[in-house]
Parts: sequence; C-alpha cells; structure tokens
Amino acid sequence: MTSSELWTRANADRYDAEEAEMSSAAVLGPTLDFLAELAGGGRALEFAIGTGRVGVPLRERGVPVVGIELSEHMASVLRRKADEDTLPVVIGDMVATTVVPGEFTLVYLVYNTITNLLTQDEQVECFRNAARHLVPGGRFVIELGVPPLRFLPPGQVAVPFDVSEQHLGFDTFDLVEQILVSHHFTRDGDDGRYRRGNSRHRYAWPAELDLMARIAGLELERRVADWDGAPFSQDSAKHVSVWRKPA
Ligand SMILES: C[S@@+](CC[C@H](N)C(=O)[O-])C[C@H]1O[C@@H](n2cnc3c(N)ncnc32)[C@H](O)[C@@H]1O
Repeated sequence: MTSSELWTRANADRYDAEEAEMSSAAVLGPTLDFLAELAGGGRALEFAIGTGRVGVPLRERGVPVVGIELSEHMASVLRRKADEDTLPVVIGDMVATTVVPGEFTLVYLVYNTITNLLTQDEQVECFRNAARHLVPGGRFVIELGVPPLRFLPPGQVAVPFDVSEQHLGFDTFDLVEQILVSHHFTRDGDDGRYRRGNSRHRYAWPAELDLMARIAGLELERRVADWDGAPFSQDSAKHVSVWRKPA
C-alpha cells in the first residue's frame, strides 16, 4: 500500500483520536520547545504536516509555519483547526514541491514519515528539497525510529511493537529491499471486532541519512535520542537528528 492510498478520508478522520497520546502535552511539550528554539525567530516548514498535530501548536507558540502535505484529507482536518492565512498548506509531494526556496530557518519531518518514501532516491530528493528551502545556517530536523532489527532473530518473521486490548501491532521485514511493513489490528467499537490495516515503509539507518544529508549539502549538527535531548546510544529506539546548511 503506498502512502497516498493510506491517508484516506476515513483514516484522516480517525487520525487525531488514534494519536491522542502523541498529541499529549507530555509528548508535544518537548517537541515544540526543541523546534521553536531551532526556528530561532524565523519561519518553519513542516514536510508531511498531516492534521497539524505538531504544526498547529507550533504556530500557536508564535512560530510562522507552512506545511506541505500529500493527502487533501489530512489537510482538511488541519483546516478545522487553523485557517489558510494562519497556517498555509501546499498540497503536494515533499520530495518535489517547492514553496519558497531559501526562506526557512527550519524544515522538519517528524514521526517516522521519511519512511513513507519507499526508495532511496526519493529519500535523497527529500533531503535536497529540505536544503532548497533553507536559509544559509538553517536546519533540517528528522525524528525517526532506529530499525528494530536487533529484535529479529534468524528464522523469526515478525517483531511485535504493541500488544494491548485496543491494538495489536507488529512489523515484518524485507531485509534485501530495506522495506518494513507495519501490521495493525485495531479494536473497532465495542463488539469485539478488530480492523486490519498495514503500511509500507523504507527504513534507513542514521548513517545512511547522514550520507543523504551530505549529498544535499547539509552537515550533521546534533543527534539525540528524543526531544528532551537524551544522549543517543546503541540502545536508543529512535533519534532526533539535526543537519545544518552551511552559512
Ligand atoms: C504519520 S502521518 C504524520 C503527520 C504529522 N506530521 C504528525 O506528526 O502527526 C504521515 C503523513 O505524511 C503524509 N505523506 C506521506 N507521504 C508524503 C509525501 N511524499 N509528501 C507529503 N506528505 C506525505 C501523509 O499524507 C500523512 O499525512
């Protein structure tokens, strides 16, 4: 399933309720602090802004935010929270859509969304597009899980990541193509039925992203394990990485 098939009207309407925890003050507080500091009084561009989980509260903090989003359905949910003057959104592909080149102090792409780009070429082009939009000295920030391959012993085909009453989730892997498929069984209503869904992702290691950044003319400035700035280690489940466009 490609990302454009995934972000349907029904999925867009469910998104905010299903991502309530990811929209909590505990998660968003440190995220917004981190991004607002990097924007440093300039404009921010969110790739794949979705329903505005991060972009809308960042705008409310006073950071001018523009979004690029592939799914009109996701953008229409954002529109219920912020009008076009307050938070402009361009419908398009973050790989190629240009808003205003060289205008932003910060471009950011959160919540593993670089993996929605299913080829290395597209991911490289995404870095190039971020670099295109940055002022000299501006930053590109990515939040991304470390591929959970340490949990996949030989012979095992799936790695569970959530086992709860409401949701069963596990990943399967194609180690040759660097593709991960996330499978979800989500409780739908009170009649005990589960809705099945899956999404396809191209996973990438931090070092591969650093190379993509270099191809795009960016330099790694900082890599931490979370939005609070915990040190990144070999046991980190995810990273927040900051690349800088040379001044
Ligand atoms: C997991 S959601 C994240 C939304 C939002 N950034 C957040 O943190 O809640 C992924 C979003 O990426 C968008 N998306 C996927 N591929 C895209 C692409 N190539 N260009 C722009 N948006 C894309 C989807 O439509 C969806 O809204």
